[in-house]
Amino acid sequence: MMVKEIYRAVKFICCIEFWRMSLLWTLSLVISHLRIFALRVWGHKYRNFPRQRVAPISASNRPICIITGATSGLGAAAAKALLEEGFFVILVGRSAHLLSKTKAKIHTLNENAQLETFEVDLSSFSSIMKLKNSLVQWFSDMNLHPSIQLLINNAGILATSYRTTDDGFDEMIMTNYMGAFCLTKVLLPLLIDSPVPSRIVSVSSFTHRNVYDLQVDEEFIYGKPSNFKQYPFAHIYGCSKLCVLLLSYELHQQFCKDKKSQLSVNVADPGAVKTNIMRELPQCLSQLAFLVLNLLGILQIPEKGVSSIIDAALAPPEISGMYFFGGNGRTIRSSPLSYDLMLAKRLWWISSEIFLEMKHKSERSTALSTCD
Ligand SMILES: NC(=O)c1ccc[n+]([C@@H]2O[C@H](COP(=O)([O-])OP(=O)(O)OC[C@H]3O[C@@H](n4cnc5c(N)ncnc54)[C@H](OP(=O)(O)O)[C@@H]3O)[C@@H](O)[C@H]2O)c1
Repeated sequence: MMVKEIYRAVKFICCIEFWRMSLLWTLSLVISHLRIFALRVWGHKYRNFPRQRVAPISASNRPICIITGATSGLGAAAAKALLEEGFFVILVGRSAHLLSKTKAKIHTLNENAQLETFEVDLSSFSSIMKLKNSLVQWFSDMNLHPSIQLLINNAGILATSYRTTDDGFDEMIMTNYMGAFCLTKVLLPLLIDSPVPSRIVSVSSFTHRNVYDLQVDEEFIYGKPSNFKQYPFAHIYGCSKLCVLLLSYELHQQFCKDKKSQLSVNVADPGAVKTNIMRELPQCLSQLAFLVLNLLGILQIPEKGVSSIIDAALAPPEISGMYFFGGNGRTIRSSPLSYDLMLAKRLWWISSEIFLEMKHKSERSTALSTCD
């Protein structure tokens, strides 16, 4: 067993993606921290926004928050923090067992916590499509206003090998980006119908800074390995996180700029956090990475790392299109490519086409199974 693990680690170290991850990712993280440091030292004001408590819909109706990937790491920490802020929290996860375990754990800490769980696999279109109907039914059963006040697109994976979903997509792009896109599309009417200001927060990462060019076409979203011998997992992860940013800024353009609705859209980058995100790496290497990041003083525990997500979630309602990083309500600029409006439009258009295609496919198969 031990020999096998060492062999896997050595093989891993010999691949270029490992070095992209260890050197370039660390560098981009250090640069993000230096940016905050430099702004502080030179007395320039970085834009930071104080947290505000979100207003309840009515005296008996708490604001509703949906968190994806709530069974581990940052998602679980965000759920605890937002319960403290007075939200009714809906935990979304792909495993019923982990969802009930997380729910029970939160209830032992806070027996009055108002939370519900929904099982959704973000790598599956049909699973995402089912959520809206289940939610609307739940709102009606609970006698709640059918709207959402906060959506946190947090779920994500770092897949070290190429795997396809049942719909034929690259699993990492589907989970990290396309799943968030589809969920947002499905839940948008419920966010827009909110009688009080509502918000979308998507979790990106400093790793997006290492992507200097993005060819946005269907092939990219399907993630077909065209000419690579080895799956460029670190690059694909960075691309998926850049897509999360492009999606958020495009949503901001469409719904929030010029105050077209009460919706606002922000992005959060938690920095380096000790969670299960590196679970697919050989254990000795993930432990080594945590050790190095700890020595550099930039590794956080989830309860601390979650602060940029909570800052983004609780910033004043008029704040939109911002990139939260570093806690204390701080925002910095994301990479120049993430502000490419044409690229964002193109990504939106292609993702919408795929979304519609998958929606029709899912409706056809539901109709067929009803006929049977
Ligand atoms: N940790 C960091 O240093 C760091 C830095 C920057 C950005 N981020 C981002 O932060 C987010 C949270 O990650 P984390 O660090 O908290 O990692 P984590 O502990 O591995 O949590 C990831 C969560 O996503 C869920 N998930 C994965 N695939 C899913 C799917 N197909 N459907 C539904 N849920 C799914 C996982 O569910 P299971 O429990 O069922 O696996 C888990 O709850 C990710 O988007 C990640 O990219 C993390």
